[in-house]
Amino acid sequence: MTTDTAGYTGARLLADTIDALAERAPAVLAAAAEQMRGIRLGLRFNDGSAVSLTVRHSRLVIGPAAESDVEVAFDDRAMNLLFDLQRHPSDQVLPDSLDVRGESDRVLAVWRAFSLLSQRAAGLRFVQGLWRDYRHHRPQLWGHAIPAPAPEPDASEPGGWHALDYLERRRPEATRTDDETRVGGTVTTRPRLLWDGRDSTPWWDELPIADADLYDTMKACRARVAAEMTRLVPDREPRADLYSLVREYPARQGKGLRPTLTIAACAAFGGRPRDAVRAAAALELFHNGFLVHDDIADESTHRRGLPTLHARYGEGLAVNVGDALNLLAIDAVLSNLETLGLARTLALIRETLHMCRESVEGQAIELGWIHRNAVPGTDDDYFLMSTKKTGWYTCISPCRIGAVCAGVTDPRVLDRFDEAFRLIGIAFQIQDDLLNLVGDQAKYGKELLGDLLEGKRTVMLIHLLRTVADPAERKQLTAILGKRRPDKTRRDADTLLAAMRAAGSIDYAVDLADRLAARGIDHFERDLDIIPDNEGKAVLRQIAHYVTTRPL
Ligand code: IPE
Ligand code: MG
Ligand code: MG
Repeated sequence: MTTDTAGYTGARLLADTIDALAERAPAVLAAAAEQMRGIRLGLRFNDGSAVSLTVRHSRLVIGPAAESDVEVAFDDRAMNLLFDLQRHPSDQVLPDSLDVRGESDRVLAVWRAFSLLSQRAAGLRFVQGLWRDYRHHRPQLWGHAIPAPAPEPDASEPGGWHALDYLERRRPEATRTDDETRVGGTVTTRPRLLWDGRDSTPWWDELPIADADLYDTMKACRARVAAEMTRLVPDREPRADLYSLVREYPARQGKGLRPTLTIAACAAFGGRPRDAVRAAAALELFHNGFLVHDDIADESTHRRGLPTLHARYGEGLAVNVGDALNLLAIDAVLSNLETLGLARTLALIRETLHMCRESVEGQAIELGWIHRNAVPGTDDDYFLMSTKKTGWYTCISPCRIGAVCAGVTDPRVLDRFDEAFRLIGIAFQIQDDLLNLVGDQAKYGKELLGDLLEGKRTVMLIHLLRTVADPAERKQLTAILGKRRPDKTRRDADTLLAAMRAAGSIDYAVDLADRLAARGIDHFERDLDIIPDNEGKAVLRQIAHYVTTRPL
């Protein structure tokens, strides 16, 4: 949320809103992008700012003002309507309240896209906050002065609602149906019947999130699982050389993707979210153990913005910490015996063993390539390696494990996650690799270009070596790749990156990731149609879409 109000223009508000939607409501953003495909939209605001909006796969891309097919102008009157305090959010933007120009089909498509976006955006607390900020800090943009924010209206007096707070007090208590109950200030629906006829515990009962904001959901799942991990690490000697170090990587929190997938898959199959928390924590412990060892193997200097464990404490202690994390993870899986019983715990052991085996095989394939200075020739080689190395433990196994926690042990049911999340997992990995090359260091945490120094066989590198025709250039690139990491210079990394840009390898990878994710989403809808729509499944779907909407 911004405090730099002077430069806070309508154009920036739009960009922030789209960014927030990409992270918090990706399925809706993808649906809006679908409507706007092929249309170049120009937007002008009453503060003089202007932007263009185009679609790239499922991403809405904001750029400088450019030639457009549809032009929308937000004058003072339109801004007033948009931020009207008393209106229902979906009525805010009326067809006659804006100056929209363009061919009628395209104008209609833009309207459909904007209806989707504005309705969903208006229901997200985070976006409400953005808009409220904007409204209160730039009163001149309204064409008249805005009174100071009124005190929070009493929820029992519907007449006093602010449109932007609409979702928080969606309907007065008296008009709610019998299916709804109020839990901790949040309206939740009664448990629904699930795929096998059992009742589900309402998802938000335990993780109370009012507006199904994916970002907040991931934050809540991550925090819950992090707390569980803390409980699982023993508080005893040797602290300084073992257990304090064991806590270091888990304390550097990631996005929370795995915990969310695990908990959501459990909820999707009718389980209680809390039943998946221990297994999710076990998964995180495995993950951290693998990372400690991986950082040694890759000679990485930084992880999530801080020096790697072996860089800080030396390889000996770090190897031991990795071992300890893996042991603690096995212990955590076993500890489900008391709560989930024998059948589910045995299935959890089978799932985690499989996950770990895939990971070590994937690591072996990649490290072997680097060791022999070999670059695979096809994307399929990469897909196989990447699915084994990270796809299983970041995407497929969390879903399967979550479902096991809900009592699903039939492999034929669990297998239905595999293809969808294999494709989504590869897309995620390609995007992570892209972020390492073109990402924002502050957000990213690892060393930017670290993958180039480490010689990681990414889709971009594979594409580059497949594409470069000039034998002299090939020789130069192969020689750089053959150097050991400490001998590679920043210049070597820059040479590789420049060659990738020239060969179109970056654009190739962006497109490839988006195409794979789109196929993953198709499989999600088809293969998992055995799960009726419920909150857990909705979260899984949001994550599937998140791959294609997150900004690169
Ligand atoms: C890490 O793989 C995978 C495992 C620990 C199994 P990478 O080496 O590709 O990932 P980063 O870049 O270090 O996170
Ligand atoms: Mg690594
Ligand atoms: Mg590695």
